[in-house]
Amino acid sequence: MTDYFKKSVLELHGYTSPPQREYRVKLNQNESPFDVPDPVKIELTAAARSLLWNRYPCNESPALMHRLAQRHAVEPEQILLGNGSNQLFQTLLAATLEPGDAVVYTPPTFSLYELYTRVYDGRLVHVMQPPGADYPLSEVLAAIKDHRPRLIYICSPNNPTGWEMDLDSLTRICQAAPGLVFFDEAYGEFCAQSAIPSLDKFENLLISRTFSKAFSMAGLRFGYFVGNAAVIAQLRKVNIPYNINIFTELAALRLLEHEKEMARGIEFIKKERDRVFAALQSMAGILVFPSAANFILMKGPAGLDLFQALKERGILVRDMTGYPLLSGYQRVSIGLAHENDIFLQTLEQIMHDNVEKR
Ligand SMILES: Cc1ncc(COP(=O)(O)O)c(C=O)c1O
Repeated sequence: MTDYFKKSVLELHGYTSPPQREYRVKLNQNESPFDVPDPVKIELTAAARSLLWNRYPCNESPALMHRLAQRHAVEPEQILLGNGSNQLFQTLLAATLEPGDAVVYTPPTFSLYELYTRVYDGRLVHVMQPPGADYPLSEVLAAIKDHRPRLIYICSPNNPTGWEMDLDSLTRICQAAPGLVFFDEAYGEFCAQSAIPSLDKFENLLISRTFSKAFSMAGLRFGYFVGNAAVIAQLRKVNIPYNINIFTELAALRLLEHEKEMARGIEFIKKERDRVFAALQSMAGILVFPSAANFILMKGPAGLDLFQALKERGILVRDMTGYPLLSGYQRVSIGLAHENDIFLQTLEQIMHDNVEKR
């Protein structure tokens, strides 16, 4: 294979996707627990029949760009559309990284940042941010000074710790950064504030959003960047043409008409998150961290394999073992009320049995 592939690719493990179904309660991928309502699905599939499937879609869907620009009070040329936000992240790296360019980031965070940076032969410079800790601002500023990174990655709210960045820290980073500041708001709908208004102040700020979480569209793949027009124009040159298929375009436009109903779902998830957090906090032996997203990071007592114990009882959470600093940690997505109840009751039982055993 060494004749065929880059060294950085041969050394990679690649992304391993967690199990998709077969479980009583699936709380492992931070998806929305609400599927698109049936009447909307029926309407969308009927509308899809009248489209020409043999023709290319309209490149870069002007309708979607316009609608999203309205949503965020920016101009359409500040929007770049992607087949999921991950696809755009790859576009970003293809457009910016020369081999050996430094990238500053704060693990533990979303695993694809490291994976793709390696693919593009970037030089990863990490500053650790343990769960529950503040953003290591002065260390990141020092790393920026020392390494002059081409890119800085910030995930806020952060997957998997649930931490949310304050906008003053973001200001300091944008002022100090010589390159682009990639600010991933995949969970932006669940937290207090967005960084999008800061785009007016910082040319180098680039924000990523997705319809995979709050918009219930993980299966259809749609995400977008919001940035300054000059930055987006460069990325547009590298982005894959026709990356938004006609069905995704139809569905995203239709769901944007339903923002009010979606907002109710988001409010529900936030309330459930607070309820699940309070219940976990009151459980002896469970360590839990406040979250601004639709998931919660937690850890059970040493010697108890919580992931396995929950799995055996039909509940799938995300095992974070393997992530830096997170051996023995679990990330649990917020589900429907009865799913959260099953999770909490089962966990309580597991913890009770564990105490009895000792
Ligand atoms: C921080 C973060 N960014 C991006 C994504 C992926 O988004 P998409 O489905 O739009 O590719 C995820 C998905 O888990 C995520 O956690």
